Amino acid sequence: MRSVIDILDLSVRELDALTDTALDIIARPEEYAHACEGKKLATLFFEPSTRTRLSFEAAMYELGGHVLGFSEAASSSASKGESVADTARIVSCYADIIAMRHPREGAALVAALNASVPLINGGDGGHCHPTQTLADLLTIRREMGRFDHLTIGVCGDLKYGRTVHSLVHAMARYEGTRFVLISPEELRTPDYVLASLREKGVPYSETAELDGAIPALDILYMTRIQRERFADPDQYERLKDSYILTPDKLADAKKDMAILHPLPRVNEISVAVDRDPRAAYFRQALNGKYMRMALILKLLDEARKDPGPAITLPDGSVSGTYVCRNRRCISAVEQELPQLFRPDGREKGLYRCVWCDTAATD
Ligand code: NCD
Repeated sequence: MRSVIDILDLSVRELDALTDTALDIIARPEEYAHACEGKKLATLFFEPSTRTRLSFEAAMYELGGHVLGFSEAASSSASKGESVADTARIVSCYADIIAMRHPREGAALVAALNASVPLINGGDGGHCHPTQTLADLLTIRREMGRFDHLTIGVCGDLKYGRTVHSLVHAMARYEGTRFVLISPEELRTPDYVLASLREKGVPYSETAELDGAIPALDILYMTRIQRERFADPDQYERLKDSYILTPDKLADAKKDMAILHPLPRVNEISVAVDRDPRAAYFRQALNGKYMRMALILKLLDEARKDPGPAITLPDGSVSGTYVCRNRRCISAVEQELPQLFRPDGREKGLYRCVWCDTAATD
């Protein structure tokens, strides 16, 4: 049985197949209208969401299935102190598949290890957001017609922006990808994401300047500064207006550049940009529903063929040697969850938290 916690849980071939399925759903929706009849999706949202939760729910309805769940931690037993592990175990009794969002990094992995049905990570703190990347990929395929040889500018909160981390991991696997990482110094891309680019030999540059970067880009992926992840509210106030994309900044952009944004937007894209045909972010939100339909179909089909145990922890994991210093990690709060570290695999002697990827020496 498969769960999807990280975009790297899906191979490039599987991503291509998911986009093919999504395009087929768009072309022939009636063929899929009964595909999940009698099946239930549970949406466990411990953190606010509009697009991710509602598009998962719409996806399941359009497949003929049913939906149950909650949209805030306050209306679940988490408010009584229930652990993520227990919630996942219980919900597995009531649903055939789970989509979950949680403010703690690594929470989805803990849930998947304890669930007996497939679990999809709908965002775990500032860590990963694989199904947003599925929406991004279908958008890139429909807007650009290809995944290879693209120069992708990613702008905004690259530190806490989980959609960025998953997008970078996904696009780094395609031939000819280059990244321009545009952020204030304080919100630079985490080292575990950069290390994976270096390992794959993917060219990237880091800059604080948006305007100068725009002319070279095939895709501009804007993101919001993630207010809820800041420990220091003053730092958020200082950084919140770092980038605002306006029509005049697009004057030197390529004619076929696509502007993406996972949304919600605060003020980082002026409303005036919405009229530009290159603004793809509302189309991107719709694409998310089709990709979630394709993913639900795939995981339910695989669970039917292989109902066996869920995912396992990485080989060579050690406990008792290190303590995770990321205060947003699930291991800081989950009852009796071991402090577990895995070898980095790239840098000798370096260990990373199994739950949130933070380096033991950070
Ligand atoms: C993103 C998220 O939740 O990480 N939103 C989404 O799922 N479309 C981006 C964000 O909240 O800024």
